[in-house]
Amino acid sequence: DGDAFKYYADGEWKKSSSGKAVSIVNPTTRKTQYKVQACTQEEVNKVMETAKAAQKLWAKTPLWKRAELLHKAAAILKEHKAPIAEALIKEIAKPAKDAVTEVVRSGDLVSYCAEEGVRILGEGAFLVSDSFPGNERTKYCLTSKIPLGVVLAIPPFNYPVNLAVSKIAPALIAGNSLVLKPPTQGAVACLHMVHCFHLAGFPKGLINCITGKGSEIGDFLTMHPGVNCISFTGGDTGIAISKKAGMIPLQMELGGKDACIVLEDADLDLVAANIVKGGFSYSGQRCTAVKVVLVMESIADTLVEKVKSKVAKLRVGPPEDDCDITPVVSESSANFIEGLVIDAKEKGATFCQEYKREGNLIWPLLLDHVRPDMRIAWEEPFGPVLPVIRIGSVEEGIHHCNASNFGLQGCVFTKDINKAMLISDAMETGTVQINSAPARGPDHFPFQGIKDSGIGSQGITNSINMMTKVKSTVINLP
Ligand code: G3H
Repeated sequence: DGDAFKYYADGEWKKSSSGKAVSIVNPTTRKTQYKVQACTQEEVNKVMETAKAAQKLWAKTPLWKRAELLHKAAAILKEHKAPIAEALIKEIAKPAKDAVTEVVRSGDLVSYCAEEGVRILGEGAFLVSDSFPGNERTKYCLTSKIPLGVVLAIPPFNYPVNLAVSKIAPALIAGNSLVLKPPTQGAVACLHMVHCFHLAGFPKGLINCITGKGSEIGDFLTMHPGVNCISFTGGDTGIAISKKAGMIPLQMELGGKDACIVLEDADLDLVAANIVKGGFSYSGQRCTAVKVVLVMESIADTLVEKVKSKVAKLRVGPPEDDCDITPVVSESSANFIEGLVIDAKEKGATFCQEYKREGNLIWPLLLDHVRPDMRIAWEEPFGPVLPVIRIGSVEEGIHHCNASNFGLQGCVFTKDINKAMLISDAMETGTVQINSAPARGPDHFPFQGIKDSGIGSQGITNSINMMTKVKSTVINLP
């Protein structure tokens, strides 16, 4: 297709031999905004070969030089923040300011990765044998961290740039090469980000970005024998990938149903502000969004009133106007969210606002008196709909949180730090935030989910370590 953006392989921009394109629908206009190449399995094979060859040379490139190139890419990325943000606005309806923030945060992440990489990869270990029973001091063990090979990076639509670089930068500093498969919505922003790495002057074939239909190349990519590591962020697809992937390290960040437990002594203005920011920013399309409020009955009316008055102030409309609530990513997503709302209505939830939808735009909705028999109590809407469950005891709140199949983050609001610590220990989630809404950042903090929320831990340091393996050399003395 003549209009489609080219894919990137072997240091060049290419058209697919398929002659076909994949359309990217603008969530706001619901019309085709851009097109990208529909790459073939044959093209995937070629990219894998290229990536493998480039990695061998890259692994021999001095660490400080790798870091230098990453710093350069970070600076170029920041210079290109306006056009990349524009693509984010059109492809995924991210509010204008948040779109710029995503790119700037990504540049910072790449730089931090370069810094962290030279430090942690610049060190190894030295061990002696005589600490283990039966040994004399005749063996010296030297360890260092070596790259895995080709890393397959699959970011989701909600942070196509940031969650791509959070995989690319650790992989590169550690000496790996990259095959990036962007989400369809977000592909153009991703390609533009890759262009910044191209401009920085990375060797040919080291970073490759292949676009296309998941049905055509998805399984082919994730099951490809040339892949040595998969870093994936997204939904249920991750569970399917983990079942099909070979014997390679997997980093998976999947869904969440982050609970916000509110105790009687909490600062309710702080709680309300965090619920609105945590629940409704980017229209709830964040894995770390607050997805269920578990509030003590005695303070529930006051809290719900405070949240309601803040929700009333949210601006609803197009991302270009930097509205707080913008259209959700697709019609099928909007339909799914609507299904949860209808189910809650039928089962008697209290609607704090009137339910309103125009196309993919759904007005923010707080549902009070939600009960465990409602789907919204357990399922992840990935939209601006937030359930409130009133609890009679803290134990009830913890029980609800732990009964979820997800375990990404959670938060607890109280002035009693001792109680907060006990609740944090009791919550089966990768992270618990005390007196703030869940969030992944700052990006060097560990970030992980348990149960269906994921495999492994992310954050800059953990990702660098995950994308390497330990190599030992043992010197045996006579
Ligand atoms: O959607 C999942 C992201 O990892 C959440 O990142 O907490 O910075 O919005 P965030």
